[in-house]
Amino acid sequence: MLRLQNVSKQFDGKPALSALSLEIRDGEFVVLVGPSGCGKSTLLRLLAGLDEVSGGEIWLREENITTMTPRERNFAMIFQNYALFPHLSVRDNITFGMKIRKEDKASWQPRLAQVAQMLQLDDLLDRKPAKLSGGQRQRVAMARAIVRNPRLFLMDEPLSNLDARLRTEVRDSIMALHQQLKTSTVYVTHDQTEAMSMADRIVVLNGGHVQQVGRPEHLYARPANLFVAGFIGSPAMNLLRLPCAEGQVRVGELTYPLPPAWATQREVWFGLRPEHITDSPGPQALTLPATVIQRELMGADYLLHVSTPTGALRYTRRHRGAIPEKGDTLTLGFSPADIHLFHAETQHNLLHKES
Ligand SMILES: Nc1ncnc2c1ncn2[C@@H]1O[C@H](COP(=O)(O)OP(=O)(O)O)[C@@H](O)[C@H]1O
Ligand SMILES: [Mg+2]
Repeated sequence: MLRLQNVSKQFDGKPALSALSLEIRDGEFVVLVGPSGCGKSTLLRLLAGLDEVSGGEIWLREENITTMTPRERNFAMIFQNYALFPHLSVRDNITFGMKIRKEDKASWQPRLAQVAQMLQLDDLLDRKPAKLSGGQRQRVAMARAIVRNPRLFLMDEPLSNLDARLRTEVRDSIMALHQQLKTSTVYVTHDQTEAMSMADRIVVLNGGHVQQVGRPEHLYARPANLFVAGFIGSPAMNLLRLPCAEGQVRVGELTYPLPPAWATQREVWFGLRPEHITDSPGPQALTLPATVIQRELMGADYLLHVSTPTGALRYTRRHRGAIPEKGDTLTLGFSPADIHLFHAETQHNLLHKES
């Protein structure tokens, strides 16, 4: 539906986005995730038409929209700072744009009722913003955006000003809304947990470059490179730079074969997710001796920090039975299938070579 071809953006000669190509399908919820400063808002502003591209093209279906004004595009943008008019009621805030454009009331009146109901604002239509919670205000901002019936939603960190409980509430509203409207959405966040829970597909961005595009499950199971491996998943994947010899990587006393093409590597990045390590290994597991340095309660799980002959690792353990304590020695195990390996220099995944 929406196609970006080699889109780039420079600010005063400095690249903020480099040759970005991406397709967004009809009805898809795409989440753009990456650390602060990686170019997420820049990309969203280019899509909205608020800034001009430095290079490349943006296509909507068969139409080249690269130089269209925001109004011609008819996309709705929802920001983290939802500026509502304090002196206007919720109803007038939602319908403000349509009144300004002198749209026929009969055309939007039914939409207002529908949108207010969808976002559970029907009982609040006569209130002023000052009498609303943060979550309610953000829902008014969303109502104002969707009542226009946009072709695409662009959302820039819409939850980041809300406290944890409201964040869940508004997130659920956004997902319910998407279920009903099926309007294609590009949603920006720096929070990978949010990305994992909301996205049909995730685009991981770092330093203005796309790192990987895929379904959340795919990014979790097969990160394309070291950056995605460390960024997606919580707690983060253990990543150790380990020596190799004769086509094998050494993990403590263990050796693990490298793919034949990488037999000459002298070092690799070894990755293992905390949830793929156990302290009660079965007979098939690879094992490592370990000493507990610290333990952290994280709700249903404990996170244990341990030292091993190979380096420091963290693993999660269900909050059940006797939990190892600081100073305890134990044997950790993991399955060879859960190992990730990344090239020491290019940082590409050595086991799963794909985008
Ligand atoms: N209007 C601007 N003028 C100059 N530099 C900018 C401007 N907007 C963004 N940048 C720079 O572009 C990069 C990407 O910024 P941004 O897209 O806002 O990142 P994000 O939203 O991922 O945190 C940053 O280095 C930022 O400083
Ligand atoms: Mg931003």
